[in-house]
Amino acid sequence: MTKLNRRQALTLFGAAGAAAPYAGKAAAQSTGVLFRHGVASGDPDYSSIVLWTRVTTDRDSMPVRWELAEDEAFTDILLSGEAEAVSDADHTVKVIAGPLAAGQTVYYRFIADGETSMTGRTRTLPEGHVERLGVALVSCSNYAFGFFNAYQEIASDPAIDFVLHTGDYLYEYGADEWGGETASAIGRVHAPAHEIVSLSDYRTRHAQYKSDAGSQAMLAAHPLLALWDDHESANNPWTGGAQNHQPDTEGDWAARREASIRAYYEWMPIREPAPGMERAQFWRTYVFGDLATLVTMESRHTGRGRQVDYKDYVEELTSPEAVGTFLAEVIGDPSRRMLSAEMEATLRAALEQSVAAGQPWRILGNAIPMARMPVPDVTAYGVVPEPDANGEIPLAKQALIWKGQLGLPFYTDTWDGYAAARENFYALCREAGATDLLVLTGDSHSFWANRLHDGQGRPMGLELGTAGVSSPGDFVESGWDESTAARLDEIFAEAVEEVVWTDNLHQGYVRVELTPEAGTATYVAVDTVLTPDYRPLTLREMPIARKDGGIDYAS
Ligand SMILES: [Fe+2]
Repeated sequence: MTKLNRRQALTLFGAAGAAAPYAGKAAAQSTGVLFRHGVASGDPDYSSIVLWTRVTTDRDSMPVRWELAEDEAFTDILLSGEAEAVSDADHTVKVIAGPLAAGQTVYYRFIADGETSMTGRTRTLPEGHVERLGVALVSCSNYAFGFFNAYQEIASDPAIDFVLHTGDYLYEYGADEWGGETASAIGRVHAPAHEIVSLSDYRTRHAQYKSDAGSQAMLAAHPLLALWDDHESANNPWTGGAQNHQPDTEGDWAARREASIRAYYEWMPIREPAPGMERAQFWRTYVFGDLATLVTMESRHTGRGRQVDYKDYVEELTSPEAVGTFLAEVIGDPSRRMLSAEMEATLRAALEQSVAAGQPWRILGNAIPMARMPVPDVTAYGVVPEPDANGEIPLAKQALIWKGQLGLPFYTDTWDGYAAARENFYALCREAGATDLLVLTGDSHSFWANRLHDGQGRPMGLELGTAGVSSPGDFVESGWDESTAARLDEIFAEAVEEVVWTDNLHQGYVRVELTPEAGTATYVAVDTVLTPDYRPLTLREMPIARKDGGIDYAS
C-alpha cells in the first residue's frame, strides 16, 4: 500500500468521504478565549461516549451547552445538554453522550458565553459484523522534545477509527531536566518550570500538552482509548513509590500519585470508575463487534512490585553462574507482580469471551515492552564506543556493553524485569485459550516488531511497539552517532530471538489495520519533531497472518 502524504490524502478523500472534509477542519487549532484546550472524546461503548472540553475562566463555575449531530453542520441535533465547568474540576467538562447507535460516527461541540468550541468527530464501538478496524498506536508524547507531528498526521489518516495511547501522555520533568535543551531551542519549555508534584502542577502540565496543535487536531478527529504508563505520575513507579519520587523533598508518594490521577481523570476523555472501583484501577475492555477485543492494562499503580536496579547488583554480577542466579532469583522472583488480581480477572474474562465468540483478534493495550530482550554483546559485532570530549565513555554506552557481555535484560522496568510475572501472564492467556495475542506497546521510544514466546518456547503472539510521538530513541539518546544507532537496531534484530525488526531513529506511530482474515502494521515516522512543518514517511509495513492457530508476520 502506498502511503499518501497528508496533502494527497486530503485531496483524495476530501471531496467524497466523511473522514476527510473533517480532517481539514480538525487541523485548525482552537482559537477564541474560552476553549483554548480543544475538545476530545473517548472511552466509548456501544451506545455512548465521553465528550470532553475545558473552559478557561476566572469564574468559579460556568454553564456549558453541548451539542451532538450526525452532520458536521449540525443541521439535525441528535443530543444536547447542559454541563457545568467548575473550578473544583479545573473547569474541565466531561459528558457521557448517549444513547447512540453502535458504530455511529457523530460530531460534537460545546458552547459557553456566546462562544463555540471547535467541532469534534467521534464514534461508538461497532456491534455485529465488523469488516475492518484501524487503530493508531501512540505513546511517549514529550512536549519538551518536540511538536506532536505524529498526532497531526493521525488526525488526517483516513484509515484510523480509534487512537490507542499506551501512556507517557505527558512527562513530569522540570524545564531544566530531560529534554530541557531542546525545549529552549524550539520554544516548548515545560510549564510549570519545576518537576510537577502537586495537583495544581499536574493540571498546569496537562493544560500545556493540550495546547499543542497536533494534539488538538487528533483528539478532535478520533475517539481516544487511553491507558497510562509511568510519566503521567513520575518515572518508574510501583505500588510503593517511584524512581523519580523523593519523599524527603516531595512528600508522600500516595498523595502525589492521587494528585496525578485526579488531574488525569479531569483532563482526559475517560469515564469515572464503576461503582466499587477506584480511579487507580484504570483498565478497560473494548469489544469491536465480531472482529476484536482490546483490553487496556494497568501495570503501574495496582499490582506492580518494585523494579530491580542493576546498580545494586553490579559488584556481584561477575560470572555466568552469578548472572544465572540473579536472573532466576532476582529478576525471576515470583513475589514481584506486574498486574493486580482484579486486573488479571478482567483480562481472563475478556480473553475467554473473545475466544468463545470466535473473534479473530485479541489485542492488548500494554504500557511497557513484553518481549524477551537479552542485550547482545555488541562489541562482538564490531561496535566500539567512542569516548566523549572528556576522553570518557558515557555511562549509558558502558551500560549497554556491560549488559551485552552478561546477557542481561535491556530494561528492568519492563516485563523483562519481571520474568515470573510474565510467565504467569502467559499462563493466564493460555488458560483462557488465547495464544495469538496482538500486543500493542509503548514506552521504549523505538519501533518494534517482535514475536512472543512463553518460557517453554511456545508462541504467544506478536508485539507491535511504537516509537515516541516526540521522545527520542534510546541509542540516539545515549550518544551513539546515527549510523551506530542504526547498526545497533540491526544487531538487536539479528541477535535477539524475539525481535524481528526495530528502529530507534524515528518518532511516529503505528497504523494497525485488521480484517477478519489478516492484519497490517504500518510503521509511520515523521521526518522532524523540531518544527510543526514535517513530512510523513512509511518506514516499514508488516503484514500479519493467522498461522497454525496463532498469528505471525506474513513476510
Ligand atoms: Fe516514554
